Amino acid sequence: MNRPLKYVLSILALITTNSLAHGATDTSSRVADIVRQRCIECHGPTGQGTNSQFPKLSGQNADYLVKQMFNFKSGARKSSVMAPQLADLTGEEIVQLAHHFSGERLIPEVTMDKALIEVGREVFMTGNPAREISACAVCHGPTARGGQMLPRLAGQHADYIELQLRRFIERSRTTDQTLMHSVASKMTDAEIRAVSYFLSGLD
Ligand code: HEC
Ligand code: HEC
Repeated sequence: MNRPLKYVLSILALITTNSLAHGATDTSSRVADIVRQRCIECHGPTGQGTNSQFPKLSGQNADYLVKQMFNFKSGARKSSVMAPQLADLTGEEIVQLAHHFSGERLIPEVTMDKALIEVGREVFMTGNPAREISACAVCHGPTARGGQMLPRLAGQHADYIELQLRRFIERSRTTDQTLMHSVASKMTDAEIRAVSYFLSGLD
């Protein structure tokens, strides 16, 4: 390669690397601003949730978070609280927000009621074959950490879990009309309370 060409190429490489690095910093500082200005109020700085009705986002599977944010944005999952928070955000910002919260450590709740925990564990691990209630563990995993598109339930607020189960029953959460509706609609109030309480204490 001749020297001038080599020189031009190395300058070009420098410019490209620089602008890429710059672009990344711009997006991550923009995302840090969004977290501080919008999300903290309800989800807390690390996504731990400031109130038991607001879901914990910390430690949640990133792909699941991305999917739910697009669901709110499109109206597939209805929330007059969440939709305006995301309306002006780009896909790239949403992906980065998901990774920010997913990477934080979730702190489980302190659960003391041993009897309730045991009932909840039974529902989670074996369901109720007599009433055709599938074990939650089949889909959410034996440690309730979920999978790519399946939410982690371990350590989530009991009140939030209970609220979502009721929404699946009444079909007001429309992102999953079949799987969760068919499981939750067969459960008694006592089973819903027990499994939600059990899950909130899992690490
Ligand atoms: C005013 C309170 C509030 C603010 C501000 C807020 N959220 Fe939420 N968020 C909620 C509530 C309430 C829900 C549950 C919605 C429902 O199911 O009705 C929720 C749900 C979510 C979920 C779905 C979690 C799950 O487990 O399915 C994600 C993801 C989320 N919020 C991300 C964010 C991000 C990112 C921001 C900042 C851009 C933000 N939220 C700002 C209240 C808020
Ligand atoms: C056949 C598979 C399957 C089974 C069994 C199942 N789930 Fe789910 N669950 C899902 C899927 C898929 C979603 C995600 C729905 C969506 O995209 O909105 C989900 C979502 C949830 C959510 C919403 C979490 C959030 O962060 O908003 C809760 C709570 C939940 N499941 C609890 C349970 C409990 C408790 C059981 C057992 C009684 C159970 N699930 C059994 C597949 C299942």
